[in-house]
Amino acid sequence: MSNNVEINMDNLPKHIGIIMDGNGRWAKKRGLPRHFGHQEGMKRVVDIVEAANELNIKYLTLYAFSTENWKRPKIEIDALMNLLVIFIRNELDRLNRNNVRLNILGDITPLPELPKREVLRAVDMTKNNNSMTLNIALNYGGRQEIVKSFKDILMEIQKGNINIEDLDEDTISDYLYTRNQPDPDLIIRPSGELRLSNFLIYQGAYAELWFADVLWPDFNKSWLEKAILDYQNRNRRFGGI
Ligand code: IPE
Ligand code: IPE
Ligand code: MG
Repeated sequence: MSNNVEINMDNLPKHIGIIMDGNGRWAKKRGLPRHFGHQEGMKRVVDIVEAANELNIKYLTLYAFSTENWKRPKIEIDALMNLLVIFIRNELDRLNRNNVRLNILGDITPLPELPKREVLRAVDMTKNNNSMTLNIALNYGGRQEIVKSFKDILMEIQKGNINIEDLDEDTISDYLYTRNQPDPDLIIRPSGELRLSNFLIYQGAYAELWFADVLWPDFNKSWLEKAILDYQNRNRRFGGI
């Protein structure tokens, strides 16, 4: 697929979120077990991180594991956690070379020890990079994130550090995992499903949504460019005229 029209570098989305969906169906179509789809999907993570960085996208959020994905069979969860470890071990050097900072959205405490340790190591080793921030949403749920922000804010109120009268939208944003980051301008969901599945539900209030029938393991740089071009042709009114 080639895109004839050029991307306008003055109107790039600052923050793109991607719901990486369709790995299971990709594998099923080929008569393979689901984890082959996840394995292929991980290769697209590598490609798309590089492509987004080259396109000068400043924040990229990839939805890798939701708070609801624990409902899956243990064997599939284990395969996903294993791929996470492989991803970090294979890609950490490249992330550093490309000046990409890794950041996690979600509560990683319930993760098994090895992936948890590798994630923390990667976050620490990339913390001074500043070309692009790569957020991996891991054990992430938008509703759980909002509940957590409420609890943290209430604690601060109790301690007298925040006045209820001063509480506003910015306070809430400051207590989300994405604190200090711009809200997503564009949320991409491949696989044909037309829903957010608990992804960035607060931050995405005014995001442009982009859906396509392509499965995540078939998603490539051309698809990313297509989504950005479509985004640039949208008329974002934010309630105005
Ligand atoms: C990947 O796609 C998303 C993850 C939770 C890792 P799926 O595993 O949901 O693939 P489908 O939707 O079953 O095709
Ligand atoms: C959303 O995909 C979560 C991730 C991509 C990590 P799901 O496949 O879990 O979403 P549903 O179940 O179709 O809503
Ligand atoms: Mg799915």
